[in-house]
Amino acid sequence: MGRLVVIEGLDGAGKRTLAARLTAELSAAGGTVCSTAFPRYDDDVHAELARDALYGRMGDLASSVHAMAVLFALDRRAAIPALRTDLATHDVVLVDRYVASNAAYNAARLGQDAHGEVVEWVRALEVERFDLPVPDHQLLLAPPREVAAERARARELTEPGRERDAYESDDALQARTDAVYRQLAGAGWLSPWTVVDGSGPDPAPALARLLLDGPG
Ligand code: TMP
Repeated sequence: MGRLVVIEGLDGAGKRTLAARLTAELSAAGGTVCSTAFPRYDDDVHAELARDALYGRMGDLASSVHAMAVLFALDRRAAIPALRTDLATHDVVLVDRYVASNAAYNAARLGQDAHGEVVEWVRALEVERFDLPVPDHQLLLAPPREVAAERARARELTEPGRERDAYESDDALQARTDAVYRQLAGAGWLSPWTVVDGSGPDPAPALARLLLDGPG
């Protein structure tokens, strides 16, 4: 049975680049790897609705924290058979965003007092009720804010006219989400976590060794 490894982080943290580097390192070390990403905008109607809501094309839908969380959760629920097959046939299944995205963003959207309740609600819905495979390890990619801001500026140059969705364009929400992510990582929510500060040398070689040999 393969290991389910999740990459989490804010919008623009560099998750896709890390996934590609990790895939290369894990493969070079002889591991079989496959990767996937949530939301699956092109493959799932719930993800498609969530995207429309994030771009203001679904009336007031995005204003409901719980409605948005349910859409993202249903996307993952529909992916369970494929995830189980991937886990049975690979050493590592690498996932860009998973259930912790739902916990972190939706807790951050509500006041501090509701954080614990929302995080537990997401866990009960996705892990208990939907029986989603639980991650074996979660990586929080959390570069310093200047590095993330520089990356966002570069992205604006390479992808001019790219629209930012309702969460991406909300700096206060991003800062609160960062704080919830760090709490989840610190508490070892659902699995062991490794926090990766993507500003230093390439973290992929050491992470690949940890994921193939290390505990958790
Ligand atoms: P994306 O930027 O990775 O396409 O995801 C869109 C937004 O949706 C992003 O700001 C994170 C958020 N999100 C959730 O709130 N819950 C989830 O379960 C997922 C996968 C994403």
